[in-house]
Amino acid sequence: MRIQPVVAAACRQRGAPNEITIENKTYATDSWTNTPPSILAAIPRRLHLQPNHPLSITRQLIESRFPTYETHNNLFPVVSVAQNFDSLGFPLDHVGRSKTDTYYINSSTVLRTHTSAHQADTFRADTSPGYLISADVYRRDAIDRSHYPVFHQMEGARTWDRNNLAQFSSLEDAIWADVHAIPKHSTDVIQVSDPNPTYDADRNPLQPGHSAAEIEAVAAHLKRSLEDMVVTIFTSARSATSASPDQQQEPLKVRWVEAYFPFTSPSWELEVFWQNDWLEVLGCGVVQHSILSSAGVPSKLGWAFGLGLERIAMLLYGIPDIRLFWSTDPRFLSQFNENEQIRRFTPFSKYPACIKDVSFWLPKETKEVDVKDPRSDSDVTPAGGLTSPSTPASSVSATTTSNAFHENDVMEIAREVCGDLIEDVRLVDEFTHPKTGKRSLCYRANYRSLERTLTNEETNELHERFTGLLVERLGVELR
Ligand code: DAH
Repeated sequence: MRIQPVVAAACRQRGAPNEITIENKTYATDSWTNTPPSILAAIPRRLHLQPNHPLSITRQLIESRFPTYETHNNLFPVVSVAQNFDSLGFPLDHVGRSKTDTYYINSSTVLRTHTSAHQADTFRADTSPGYLISADVYRRDAIDRSHYPVFHQMEGARTWDRNNLAQFSSLEDAIWADVHAIPKHSTDVIQVSDPNPTYDADRNPLQPGHSAAEIEAVAAHLKRSLEDMVVTIFTSARSATSASPDQQQEPLKVRWVEAYFPFTSPSWELEVFWQNDWLEVLGCGVVQHSILSSAGVPSKLGWAFGLGLERIAMLLYGIPDIRLFWSTDPRFLSQFNENEQIRRFTPFSKYPACIKDVSFWLPKETKEVDVKDPRSDSDVTPAGGLTSPSTPASSVSATTTSNAFHENDVMEIAREVCGDLIEDVRLVDEFTHPKTGKRSLCYRANYRSLERTLTNEETNELHERFTGLLVERLGVELR
C-alpha cells in the first residue's frame, strides 16, 4: 500500500530516534510519536513555579482563595492515554485523542492535554478533601496571540465522604455547613446570573445515585467557591487596569452557563463580563461517580473545575500576546513582582509585522479537508480544551482518519520552522476548482518578533522553509 504524504507527516519522521528521554525517563517511540524536540524543550521551564513570573503570581492569587486545599504543582507532564482520556470517560472516537490534536510520545503515552489527567490519581491518593493542581499542558493547536502549544491550567476539586459526616445527619447538611463558611459577596461587588435549574434530565442530568438535595448543596458550594475566586481575580485586574482604582466600581457581572464535559454531570461554565464581552473563565461540574469509584473512593461525591492560567494572567496584567510568557527578556520579566500589587504590563515596543501568504493545492487523494472556517472565532473551552460532544469544523477527523489534511499540521510546521517568530497563521481563502475538483487553500502567516525587528532576508528565509516543508510533509502543491 502506498503511504500518502500526509500520513507520513503524522507518523514518526524518517531518521527519528527509537526512543525519547524526558528528564531521566526513557520512552520507546512508535508510529504514534508526533512530539517535536521544540515541544520537549518547554518541559523543564515550569513557568507556573518560576518566582515573580506572571503565571506563578496568578496561580498563587487563586490558591490564596482556597487556603485549606492541598496544592500539587510538580506533577510530571508525561501521562498515559488511560490517565489523560480513559479514566475521565472520554469516548474512543473523541477528537481530543487524535494525533492532530495531541502530542503522543508513543501509542499509549502522551503529554497531558489537561490537568484533569491527574484527577483519578489524586482522588485515589485521598490525602485531602480539597486539592488544586497547577501544571503545564500540551496541545497541537492554532497559532495566534492567545494560543500556544504549551500552556498552563489549574484544576481544583472538593469532595465529601458519605461515610464520614461528623456531627451531621445527612450529607447535604454537612455540605451546607461548608457552604456557609465561604465568603459571600454582596450585590454591590458581584451580580450573578444563574437562570437554569441546577440539573435538567435532558440537558444537564443528575447522576444516578445522587439525590437532588445533595447536588443542590454541592452546586452551591462549587458556585460560591468559584464566585469568590473570580471576585478576587477581577478586583485585582480592575485595579490594575483602571486609571483611578479607588473610584466606586460597578459590580462585577458573572453568569453560569450549562456545559458538557465527559467527566462531570451536571456541568457549567462561568463567564465574566469583561471589557464589554462575556469571557469564559472556567469549566466545572459534579464529578462523575465512575471516576471516584474506580479510584477506590466510592463513598465520595464532589465537584471539580479547570481553568487556563494564561487567559487569566493576560487579562490581569493586560499581556497582549501569549508568546510573551516564554520570554526571558528582562524588559518583560522585570515588570512582575509577587510581593507587590498587580500593575498593568507596559508593552516594551511593538516591532513591525511581516505578512506573507502561501497558497497551495491539496493532494488530489485527500478527501476530507479539515480546516477552520476563516470566519469562525475561537472554538476552545475556558480551559483551552475541546471537550464538547459537538465539535466544531476544525476537528471533524476521528482518531483513525490520519490521511485527512489537518490545519494543525500546518501550524506545527510553522512552529517548527519559526519558533516564536510567528504571531499568527490564518486561513484566508479556500476554494474548489470547478473542473478538476482540486481544493486550494491560502494561509496568511504573520511574522513578528516580540524582541526585535526581523530583517527581510530572515522572514523570506523562514517563509521559504515553511512552504518547502508544507510540500515535503503534507504533499501539497504550491500555486
Ligand atoms: N479539562 C477541561 C479542559 O481542559 C477543563 C475542566 C472542565 C476541568 C470541567 C474540570 C471540569 O475539572 O470539571 O477543557
